[in-house]
Amino acid sequence: MSRLWNFSAGPAALPTEVLEQMQSELPEWQEAGASVMEISHRSKAFTRVIEGAEADLRELLNLPRNYRVLFLQGGATLQFTQAPLNLLQGGSADYLVTGAWSQKAAKEAARLGNVRIVSAREPFIGLPAVRDLRLSSDAAYLHLCTNETIHGVELFEESITALATAVGNVPLVADMSSHLLSRPMALSRFGLLYAGAQKNIGPAGLTLVIIRDDLLGKASAQTPALLDYRMQAKNGSMLNTPPTFAIYAAGLVFQWLKRQGGLAAIAAQNKEKADHLYAAIAASDGFYRNPVLPEYRSRMNIPFTLPTLELEAEFVRASEAAGFIGLKGHKFVGGIRASLYNAVPLAAVQALVAFMRDFALARADSGAIETVG
Ligand SMILES: Cc1ncc(COP(=O)(O)O)c(C=O)c1O
Repeated sequence: MSRLWNFSAGPAALPTEVLEQMQSELPEWQEAGASVMEISHRSKAFTRVIEGAEADLRELLNLPRNYRVLFLQGGATLQFTQAPLNLLQGGSADYLVTGAWSQKAAKEAARLGNVRIVSAREPFIGLPAVRDLRLSSDAAYLHLCTNETIHGVELFEESITALATAVGNVPLVADMSSHLLSRPMALSRFGLLYAGAQKNIGPAGLTLVIIRDDLLGKASAQTPALLDYRMQAKNGSMLNTPPTFAIYAAGLVFQWLKRQGGLAAIAAQNKEKADHLYAAIAASDGFYRNPVLPEYRSRMNIPFTLPTLELEAEFVRASEAAGFIGLKGHKFVGGIRASLYNAVPLAAVQALVAFMRDFALARADSGAIETVG
């Protein structure tokens, strides 16, 4: 087997152990006499899968009992629409714009109702002081993206506490696609959170939605049943056929996470990986640059630039030849991006850091860079 070092932003690396387990169970899953893809979502066997996945997820997240877990489809992008359909109630919502994803969320919500942007200061390199945000006390909710996958801006506990305090009773609605399950988080400060699966959860095709009980049943009358959180909660996420294979795979990832020691253990590994890469960027004398303010630097998605566009293209080519995949930056911002999700081992980051050092040294030695810094 020749699996490469995978830094893709999503769909992203899955734990090899989980892939191997899926492979071994594929033709005949447990005692079912068929693969898990070939049995009814309403069968007893699949009910055990979805209930087991939910129980493990609740345990990992330490999720309070007054939250529902929904296994939906449509990606995080559908949540940009589904959340306002369910929660706007003809009112208006505040949107904190800290990067490309929260900006997209605000744009989609604006099709359905009144959206107030409380912060959209480019370049997206962090969060303005919370006291400077023009938060509305009568908003239906405040939407935010707690980890901006493209800009590499992550909100840590201090920022979230400050926001939760500032909004008071206004529910926080969060897109956590690219860092849910990467570290422990106090989820009780959120009314609703959602994540596309294809980063730290499992394969694409599944969207996790976690909603506080009191926010169910507020959808506008025109909301299609399939998009009504209350209907989905009432029907155990099975108003129609759910993405059974992706739910099964996510369940295996949750078990794998528990075997790693849970979120505190995985968070320590994630911090070590991110620290290692940021330290390499800092040690490069300006050859590599990450623009994000230090306290908002994402531990999951680390974008960086090189002195010229030509060098960035060369870096992508050379890294691919050296056995790394997924390092090309998002087309919105260009540059390079390394995504260090849970399944990316420290060894991959060490290999990347060694490659980056050699690449920079070779360019400096060849005189390709006249001035750095
Ligand atoms: C933070 C964030 N939100 C939303 C999305 C869109 O997700 P999906 O493709 O699942 O709709 C992504 C995708 O990468 C993301 O990183």
